[in-house]
Amino acid sequence: MFFDTRPKVSVHVAQTGETFVCASDESLLQAMLRLGRKGIPVGCVNGGCGVCKVHIVEGQCRSLGPISRAHITAEEESAGYTLACRVAAVTPVRLEVTGKFEKPFRKGFANPANT
Ligand code: FES
Repeated sequence: MFFDTRPKVSVHVAQTGETFVCASDESLLQAMLRLGRKGIPVGCVNGGCGVCKVHIVEGQCRSLGPISRAHITAEEESAGYTLACRVAAVTPVRLEVTGKFEKPFRKGFANPANT
């Protein structure tokens, strides 16, 4: 039996209300996928498509690799925008989806509580 003893922090997706735990050495998106959770749009999972663009509203993340300027400008990065597949949570995080698929989340289509 495998016990995952890595330190973990919680990640909360504002639009959907989803909360899941993220290990310190995995990306926010990897953690969500590992747990079979939803909330952040999933694309290439490698920093190439930009669909997982999020705004870190509360908490801190650390980079797991370069973040493409095609998807996140330097100004956006300093304002807390990043790619969920390229960062790991350092402290508990609350984020908002802001990428290409933000609109359905804003309208509540992805949140069964709004139906
Ligand atoms: S999933 Fe493609 S950039 Fe994150």
